[in-house]
Amino acid sequence: MAQGLRLVLIGPPGAGKGTQAQLLREHVDLAHISSGDLFRHHLRQGTPLGLRAKEYMNRGELVPDEVTIDIILGKVMSIPDDDGFILDGFPRNRNQAQELDKKLTAESRNLDKVVHIDVSEPALLRRLGGRYICRACQSPHAIGLGEDASARTCDQCGGELYQRDDDAPAAVKKRIQVYNDETMPVLGFYRKRGVLVEVPGDDTIAEVNKQIMAAVDVPTARKL
Ligand code: AP5
Ligand code: MG
Repeated sequence: MAQGLRLVLIGPPGAGKGTQAQLLREHVDLAHISSGDLFRHHLRQGTPLGLRAKEYMNRGELVPDEVTIDIILGKVMSIPDDDGFILDGFPRNRNQAQELDKKLTAESRNLDKVVHIDVSEPALLRRLGGRYICRACQSPHAIGLGEDASARTCDQCGGELYQRDDDAPAAVKKRIQVYNDETMPVLGFYRKRGVLVEVPGDDTIAEVNKQIMAAVDVPTARKL
């Protein structure tokens, strides 16, 4: 691909950002930058960043901007100019959106689309209650009620599946509140810039994927 798409996926906890990023990458060659996955990686390695992030993540709060912004912007700006990316979980407040905007504008690498995946709260709670993550590649999996999670391994790489600490009910409640208070205003920021697209996310994974692909014009991007 000569020039990649620059995308942001925004949505509440459990909206399907990670799921849809992975599906998009089956069609287009884009780097996937997930701030949550990055923090969990550091946590597993026991780095100072991971330990600092853990206290906020387990409470369902945002990791402070002074920790988050530099590390994510460093990743974004290290992607070669012509390559595309999917940002998943960043930006998550106005300050993060403004800092990202400054950096990208300075290099004339503005975002192509910001996709808002909107999902109702009952569906979010249902999904997060049954969500298991691969320890190795971090792919999310849905395990149905009554299904034996210990009998399952990762569909992508065969790795061990586990439940995230911040999927405990109190942390989920807080994460949804933080999303409503801090992340929802970011939608207005991108709406004003004309790059926001709204995708209803209560439908099946395949249907939501179809809508996102149409919204970001993936077939066109593949021809580039
Ligand atoms: P992060 O890891 O980004 O978590 P989140 O935003 O709460 O979102 P999730 O990863 O829980 O959900 P998702 O939208 O990716 O859904 P998924 O595809 O897994 O952040 C975690 C924490 O890190 C934050 O709380 C914060 O502390 C910190 N952090 C991260 N970024 C930060 C930032 N920028 N600034 C400060 N702090 C930050 O799907 C969920 C489940 O539903 C899966 O089981 C999936 O299989 C299933 N599913 C998906 N789509 C569908 C569908 N359409 N129908 C049915 N099931 C579906
Ligand atoms: Mg995720």
